[in-house]
Amino acid sequence: MRTKIQQTFDALGLELGGTASGTHVTHSPSGPRLESIDPSTEEILGAVQQAGADDYQTCVSRAVDAFRDWRMVPAPQRGEIVRQLGNALREVKQPLGRLIAIEMGKIEAEGLGEVQEAIDIADFAVGLSRQLYGKTMHSERPHHRMYEQWHPLGPMGIITAFNFPVAVWAWNAMIAAVCGDTMIWKPSPATPLLSVALQKICDRVLGEAGHPDVMGLAIGETETVGHAMVADRRLPLISATGSCRMGREVGQTVASRFGRCLLELGGNNALIVAGDANLNLALRGVLFGSVGTAGQRCTTTRRLYLHESIRETFIDQLLPAYAQVKIGNPLEADTLMGPLIDQASVDRFVEAVGSVKQQGGEILCGGGLAEGFDKGFFVQPTLASVTHDLPMLQQETFAPLLYVISYSDLDQVIEWHNDVPQGLSSAIFTSDQQTAEIFLSHRGSDCGIANVNLGTSGAEIGGAFGGEKETGGGREAGSDSWKQYMRRQTNTLNWGDDLPLAQGIEFG
Ligand code: UN1
Repeated sequence: MRTKIQQTFDALGLELGGTASGTHVTHSPSGPRLESIDPSTEEILGAVQQAGADDYQTCVSRAVDAFRDWRMVPAPQRGEIVRQLGNALREVKQPLGRLIAIEMGKIEAEGLGEVQEAIDIADFAVGLSRQLYGKTMHSERPHHRMYEQWHPLGPMGIITAFNFPVAVWAWNAMIAAVCGDTMIWKPSPATPLLSVALQKICDRVLGEAGHPDVMGLAIGETETVGHAMVADRRLPLISATGSCRMGREVGQTVASRFGRCLLELGGNNALIVAGDANLNLALRGVLFGSVGTAGQRCTTTRRLYLHESIRETFIDQLLPAYAQVKIGNPLEADTLMGPLIDQASVDRFVEAVGSVKQQGGEILCGGGLAEGFDKGFFVQPTLASVTHDLPMLQQETFAPLLYVISYSDLDQVIEWHNDVPQGLSSAIFTSDQQTAEIFLSHRGSDCGIANVNLGTSGAEIGGAFGGEKETGGGREAGSDSWKQYMRRQTNTLNWGDDLPLAQGIEFG
């Protein structure tokens, strides 16, 4: 295991047990030291020296200066540099995927999938760099031309969570870069080495391209770097992924300075299995959605609504499927579920299970710490049978805790489905077209993502990713999410010899 870790660090230019700089602007930042802990063994993997307030200021000045040049590089040429970044990621897909498994704790297959997601969004951004289209309009005035164009917005701030330490940065960074923005990244304190590894790649590729400060890094404490970033008027856009509590603070501060916010916050995603569903598909969708990434995706399935006609049969299949989930170190080939990220997450899981029991829920399996581990943050995948009015159903517990609820009527289950504060992802399994269409219609799921016959998690980058209500309303990755990284300008041009006013106004 140690050899695997050593090889991974070597391949990425990291020093196992060493201390790296938490910012790209200096080798010796002034902030406190932060250790990176392997959540499977609780061993220290290394550390970073974090950015202090002065380092943060240097980062922003660099991003502001870099923006002046970067916005003048034609978008397809910016795309060419992003293509090189994507290729650099392809070269390190294996070690980077493995480092995700080591530092974040998801299994290696999912780590590799995450790097693939970063590569995919780079490809998407390259194509996009030739498609930043604006509309033309017909002016109501004679001899006038009207159109809109999209300009680079400015230097922006990216705040990411521990659970997708590579992909969510890439969703933002690759799109922002082709749009002509420069950026500063504040990653989660739980995964500092992954951000250092990525920054090394950016420094090399962007340095060779002559644009070293387009993508910057400032690992630092919330009080120092986080607060400064969110309040910083030089950053017209803050893209933040994390808890609803964090998003509420970020949203308010950014709004108070009339900045733009792209929030991707908590999910409380439900999956409905209708009476006519293909149960075999549903079973696989539920298992990946609830146990994958140890329940630490924002898209994780947290509520399972089973039609009463199939409830018993489905639970009879789900219980053995849960029982065969191999819990362990994500570097071991047969592991299906790794650890939670830290002790605080384990405590929150244990507390949530306690509340479920207290509120009248019945634990069908799991419910405690995984057995046979003296180290590491391992818990059991847990199923709890509850009713729709259980207060805990309103809350996201970032762990493999799945609530099972019976229903009898489609309209009612849709109402229950939507009756939570969050609105990220949703799914229904059904063989009936009308049921599927109702779920996808405006009287169906109120989420940003709604799927039929596939689970709630594992979205492709091509679509816009994000959700409604307390999920924050932001959209990242594909479709036209790029528009949030640019400023729209409406242009009207008079090529005539007169000055007609709009709305036919005669003035003087
Ligand atoms: C997240 O959990 O923050 O759809 C992102 C998915 C992944 C991304 C999740 N592609 O599950």
